[in-house]
Amino acid sequence: MTVTDPRKIKSSFDLPRHVGIIMDGNGRWAAARSLPRLEGHRRGVESVRRAVRAAGDLGISYLTLYAFSSENWSRPPQEVDDLMGLLKHFIRIDLADLHKKNVRVRIIGSRDDLALDLKGLLQEAEAVTRDNTGLALIIAFNYGARQEIADAVREIALRVSRGEIDPLTIDATTISEHLYTADIPDPDLIIRTSGEQRLSNFLMWQAAYAELVFLPLHWPDFDQVALEDALRQYSSRDRRFGGLATTQSAMTGS
Ligand code: IPE
Ligand code: IPE
Ligand code: MG
Repeated sequence: MTVTDPRKIKSSFDLPRHVGIIMDGNGRWAAARSLPRLEGHRRGVESVRRAVRAAGDLGISYLTLYAFSSENWSRPPQEVDDLMGLLKHFIRIDLADLHKKNVRVRIIGSRDDLALDLKGLLQEAEAVTRDNTGLALIIAFNYGARQEIADAVREIALRVSRGEIDPLTIDATTISEHLYTADIPDPDLIIRTSGEQRLSNFLMWQAAYAELVFLPLHWPDFDQVALEDALRQYSSRDRRFGGLATTQSAMTGS
């Protein structure tokens, strides 16, 4: 398959506003080549660059990349270290370029257990790009949906105890407004590479009505063609949100 002219894609697709990607398969990509897992993660950073470029070119507004889960701390300490190091490296090397491309960087997840220098870099990336109006690049790092929901519930409970929220008014919107993603629209499409078909604690609240696309390639092999493949699958889906399909509602006259 060849890469399509982005202008054609824009007009011929029902584009998702927000795409989330579970970037999986770096280790297996490396193992298949008898390379250390770190090499797979390194090549994964190249795919991040390709994904950001392609998402921007295609006119996607929000791109959330799952880079490190709350559960990834259970990996060997050296691998955890390598993944932290790669994020630092990515921000140091790419921040100026992202800024130049008008990308707004956001990081979601818990910062509590991160090293001071990494926390500083994350803060810098957000501060430098905060007024940018192009692609919103959201990096989920030390992120877990269950932890996020627990944080939101704790915050809501504190506000109830201070008399700021009437518990009887709590609804789904209250929860959404207390998540890390409060001002970000829900993902329309979630892509997972590597063939695994699960969410692994990624945006579980926000993904309630997301379309899921599982790609049979490992993250280091991800490119614009793969993104277009996922977008094509997305555009052929019938999103009903609990209602009726467009053709069915036409038949019933509603
Ligand atoms: C994705 O690749 C990167 C992270 C989860 C940080 P993996 O490291 O999970 O690769 P596999 O799944 O072992 O192949
Ligand atoms: C999900 O991948 C987390 C990220 C991509 C950052 P994992 O490789 O950690 O997920 P599981 O363990 O296969 O569910
Ligand atoms: Mg994995």
